[in-house]
Amino acid sequence: MNFEIDSARLLSEIEALALISEAEPPVVTRIVFTPADMRARAWLIDHCRAAGLAVRQDAAGNIIAHWRGSDSAAPAVGTGSHLDAIPNAGKYDGVVGVLGGLEAIRALQRAGFRPKNSVELLVFTSEEPTRFGIGCLGSRLLSGALSADAARKLIDRNAQSLDEVRRQAGLSGELENVRLPSGYYKAFLELHIEQGPVLERERVPLGIVSKIAAPASARILIEGEGGHAGAVLMADRRDALCAAAELILAIENAARTSSIDTVATVGMCEVFPGAVNSIPSRVRISLDVRDTDLARRDGVMCAMEKAAKEISQRRSVSIRIELLNADAPAECAPDVMDVLAASCRKHGLKFLPLISRAYHDSLFMAQIAPVAMLFIPCRNGYSHRPDEYAAIDDIARGTLVLAEALASLSA
Ligand code: GLV
Ligand code: MN
Ligand code: MN
Repeated sequence: MNFEIDSARLLSEIEALALISEAEPPVVTRIVFTPADMRARAWLIDHCRAAGLAVRQDAAGNIIAHWRGSDSAAPAVGTGSHLDAIPNAGKYDGVVGVLGGLEAIRALQRAGFRPKNSVELLVFTSEEPTRFGIGCLGSRLLSGALSADAARKLIDRNAQSLDEVRRQAGLSGELENVRLPSGYYKAFLELHIEQGPVLERERVPLGIVSKIAAPASARILIEGEGGHAGAVLMADRRDALCAAAELILAIENAARTSSIDTVATVGMCEVFPGAVNSIPSRVRISLDVRDTDLARRDGVMCAMEKAAKEISQRRSVSIRIELLNADAPAECAPDVMDVLAASCRKHGLKFLPLISRAYHDSLFMAQIAPVAMLFIPCRNGYSHRPDEYAAIDDIARGTLVLAEALASLSA
């Protein structure tokens, strides 16, 4: 059977979705359960319904669009990604996997393909950690990696709980019911931009992911003593921001001296009271650490804790570390990777084995299903910035390979 991707339509959908944003184009900002996210969800649901898919949303807001197979007792084949976007993001992160997944299903339908296993398109809630501090909320709940109780305790910066916010978004069911049993999916596939430079550099159109690196994150609160910027002498200060600066550099050093695969980022820093002529009394920073190797990732977390202890004693400030998540890496399933490889070969497309240094919902779907991820190139490896760009030909190639793989897994 020959599948054809309608790349003009796919491109126009990517462009249309990019306009649903809290920021001026070309910037995309779509934080979970904000009006922009809600409009994007509604837009997507309409498009899924137009394709004849039966759409449901679970209590966490994961969107599941179902194409019924001839054997309803057989496990489904899933694909999808996320629509939420961090502040000041681009058009492609997550979106390629959602709209590519939808177009792959439509390509199968157009060719007259009838699946035996049902095929499902998933849009996961809050893959990005912006609002509630941890990412992949939807897939954590679907896989049971996050309990309903722990999810209910999550709050955003305005002290609104996830439970309140999702109810305001019209999601009334119980979070306990989100979890899917292991075996529900025969396989789960995620198409995504690489978010790194390898495919572009090697001039290879596709990457098949073998492993997803292990992420950990924390919030760190440093409390010292405030005071007048002119009147308090240096020897008498307990400046929380100076302590934070030392800690940030200790974190950077721990990652730099670990391995080329170790990365650590402090991406947020809130300073209180935040006045030119006032000594910072309180600072909150975020920490994000990743590694392909779990022990090394944990090594950086330990080095950070040790540095925090030393800095806090020497500077007489208190440093409180709140660990938000510390996840293991995930291995992709060789059988499902083989299906993607066969699909690439059928179309004469070269591919490379890759490691995903970014996390994805597949990290958690791997706990309940055999997963594989397909990467396409993105310009300069840029992601999480407005100039993120993937060429439509690359997106269409990835979508074609995805369609072929969905057909092969659901036949
Ligand atoms: C996902 O967006 C990540 O930060 O890896
Ligand atoms: Mn992202
Ligand atoms: Mn993503």
